[in-house]
Amino acid sequence: MPHRRPALAVPVALTAVLIAASPAAAGPVGDAGVGDPYFPLAGNGGYHVSHYDLTLAYDPGTKHLAGTAVLTARATQDLTRFDLDLSGLTVTGLTVDHRRAAHRRSGQELVVTPDRPLRKGRTFRVTVTYQGTPAPVTDPDGSADGWIPTDDGAFVAGEPQGAMTWFPANNHPLDKASYDFALTVPQGRTAVANGVLVGQRTRNGRTTFRWHQAEPMAAYLATATVGTFKVRQYTTKSGLKVYDAIDPREANAAEPVTRQLPAVLDWESKLFGPYPFRAAGSIVDHAPQVGYALETQTRPVYDRAPDLSTLVHESAHQWFGDSVSLTSWKDIWLNEGFATYAEWLYDEQHGGDSAQKTFDALYASPAGDGLWAFPPGNPGSGANIFARPVYARGAMTLHVLRKTVGDRAFFRVLRSSAAEHRGGNGTTAQFQRLAERISGKNLGPLFHTWLYTAGKPTLP
Ligand code: ARG
Ligand code: ZN
Repeated sequence: MPHRRPALAVPVALTAVLIAASPAAAGPVGDAGVGDPYFPLAGNGGYHVSHYDLTLAYDPGTKHLAGTAVLTARATQDLTRFDLDLSGLTVTGLTVDHRRAAHRRSGQELVVTPDRPLRKGRTFRVTVTYQGTPAPVTDPDGSADGWIPTDDGAFVAGEPQGAMTWFPANNHPLDKASYDFALTVPQGRTAVANGVLVGQRTRNGRTTFRWHQAEPMAAYLATATVGTFKVRQYTTKSGLKVYDAIDPREANAAEPVTRQLPAVLDWESKLFGPYPFRAAGSIVDHAPQVGYALETQTRPVYDRAPDLSTLVHESAHQWFGDSVSLTSWKDIWLNEGFATYAEWLYDEQHGGDSAQKTFDALYASPAGDGLWAFPPGNPGSGANIFARPVYARGAMTLHVLRKTVGDRAFFRVLRSSAAEHRGGNGTTAQFQRLAERISGKNLGPLFHTWLYTAGKPTLP
């Protein structure tokens, strides 16, 4: 269910700013954010986007991007005005249902006033033409995400904020949509997005790659990575379409790992249930300045040749993060703790350390260690969402859950969670309730201790 949205409160201070900034507003306006406590301006209120149609041309030489984004959306309230998220770039035209609409920029908000109000329930189409030199955003932890230029193209990864650096979006994982991409780059470069390649054509020295992402996707999981890539396409025994794009400088190290993708996805399907998408693959770039990989939907993007653990991690995110997405960034352990635990399970079942051994080694860390700096269910701010406790103590939480309920119930919980929220969103509270329902146990104390209590937990 992609469009279930719990009512999150918009912080009072933010509401005040909005009112102050728009004295002329008459009638109902869409909020500037969905109310995410860590990223108050992420996403927007008043509508849901069901489809993005992105037509982009990028010149790696000049680093210039020209785009047209067509968003199909539905109003969830009466709207005289609504926002999109867009960071940088210049908007050169904007229509709502083919009628020119007034618009202005205010930080990351692109504020749109259609020439006539939109009634609740109404489907409408927003067309934005824009251009400029995209630049990444700097996240609260100092990392860069979004459109990151490389020596031969761009590494494009948007977690948590960067989607808005290359297309106007309802930029929060709550609002998932299908996507079409038409990406034009100089002949010889390859532009790789999500889903299935549905066309490729070269004319006048430029090649257009058309991609279709059918299953609902959060904006941060979209990519349009450009580079000089070695491409390999094949269909797996189970009928999955695989597209690998590998920077030749990384090929020797990457190929022995990316070749294992079908086997890894098969193994994860046994643990987590059916792979949720019809396409798969890997984008291995040479972009060491980035410093991380991202689980871009159907086709993770790596800043260098990944090791097998990283491939297992990003693949596990296809179930946990991509198919089942966050409702709030505070719940980030639902992504990172699960993907990390998948690495432990992979080792355990492939001749490496048992998950218990990995847990024990971590648990031996002294109380002052950074691992215990904050509880994973409450990282405190956007600056901590990719810090160690989220990944490692998040995975430890799952291990304690597994020990408490037993393997049968534990793996049923993982599969049920992936199935129940497939293509939609989930919360920590829902996960706890599901685990309690399946195990028949009160897991309140366990979740409270491991997810929400500061300091190193004691073992029972
Ligand atoms: N989700 C990614 C992973 O665990 C990490 C993304 C980090 N993003 C960032 N802006 N630092 O593989
Ligand atoms: Zn991860």
